[in-house]
Amino acid sequence: MAATQMEQLVSLCKRRGFIFQNSDIYGGLQGLYDYGPLGVELKNNIKAAWWRAMVYERDDVEGLDAAILTNRKVLHYSGHEDTFSDPMVDCKKCKGRFRADHLTDGKCPNCGSTDLTEPRPFNLMFKTTVGPVVDEDNIAYLRPETAQAIFTQFKNVVDSTSRKLPFGIAQIGKSFRNEITPKNFIFRVREFEQAELEFFVKPGEDEKWHEEWKNTRIAWWVEQGLKRENINIYVTPKEDLAHYAKACIDLEYKFPHGVEELEGIANRTDYDLGNHSKAQNELNLTSHCHENKESTTKLCIMDDDNKWVVPFVIEPSMGVDRAVLAVLTEGYTEEDLGNGNSRIVLKLKKHLAPIKVAIVPLKKNSPEIMAKCHELKKNLMKLGIGRVALENTGNIGKAYRRHDEIGTPLCLTVDFETLEQSPESVTLRDRDTMEQVRVPTAELAQYLRDYFAQ
Ligand code: GLY
Repeated sequence: MAATQMEQLVSLCKRRGFIFQNSDIYGGLQGLYDYGPLGVELKNNIKAAWWRAMVYERDDVEGLDAAILTNRKVLHYSGHEDTFSDPMVDCKKCKGRFRADHLTDGKCPNCGSTDLTEPRPFNLMFKTTVGPVVDEDNIAYLRPETAQAIFTQFKNVVDSTSRKLPFGIAQIGKSFRNEITPKNFIFRVREFEQAELEFFVKPGEDEKWHEEWKNTRIAWWVEQGLKRENINIYVTPKEDLAHYAKACIDLEYKFPHGVEELEGIANRTDYDLGNHSKAQNELNLTSHCHENKESTTKLCIMDDDNKWVVPFVIEPSMGVDRAVLAVLTEGYTEEDLGNGNSRIVLKLKKHLAPIKVAIVPLKKNSPEIMAKCHELKKNLMKLGIGRVALENTGNIGKAYRRHDEIGTPLCLTVDFETLEQSPESVTLRDRDTMEQVRVPTAELAQYLRDYFAQ
């Protein structure tokens, strides 16, 4: 099967309403995308699958939903103000600006000139001011990662839940980076969503947990439909590690534009909790960069021996938009049906499909058929299997084509036999096999519960 091309995905996403360019009618705003009617469902389903696996199915993780605007001090003591930058060069000929580490041949990607400035650091954080006075004292940032609020709320979570090590805090939310060159559709964007777990462990147990989280996360990705052979494990060389990390394992995916990071799993040591703590000299830290005289708290926890320790942190950090791109890439299929016919099928896992069941009336201008469709929709929504949509194009072939393309696992057709035969039954058509079965409506609820059971 031919590899999925980015153009195929961009076209499908726009045509069917998954993803649109932000501010499209004004020519767009670079590096920003909006999720349309189906995209929001797909993204929500991915986030729900992550939350379920990382929080609900475990007994050692709590959740958090923190503010996006962040006190400048947090990002000062985290090291982001000093070091969260990419090397930037200017082309002296066409005035374009680029990431120095993305230039392969030392030439401007716009005009080919080699007359470039020396690389200089460009801080990626979006700065703003809070309140009516615009001055240095009121500077705040849009968070560049969700992780920092997990560290700064560590003590409040521990005190309110009585957690002991090891345990984690999970969060899903927007982050912002002023990328020098956003590119590759939703892969590298300026506003994006992260799903991050900060897992706190005893110092000395960090390497064991790092390995364990690598395996847990690979298994999760395979459950979301990615083929194991399309996931690559990349161990970040020491010189490329983020300023807070002792080690990092990237799970990379074979995206249409190349093999690139899908999720980073970092060992952040005691760096963050240590840097945000007061009285650091009492804490036996293995790493810290900023002396902190402004924090009001020691971010530590009592271990089993009644000693205060600053935990080490293992951080699986997933880009939600990259997850959307990966499952679309993996699911996109063009099938040759013979006789010059073909179809596009989005083979998403059932739990990720934006619409679970499409109810398709054989005729849209038959009041009896439409009444039965409405009744079925009302009943099926009560099953809690996800979104059930009523199609009313009145063209079965067109409805099947659309639902194949958007990944709907089942189309349920209501026809005259449904109304006339006893016992009453409907047709269910499977997206992948295109096979149809007749199911008595009395058995439909159980059939669908079993079909969508996870
Ligand atoms: N928290 C890790 C990252 O944002 O890359």
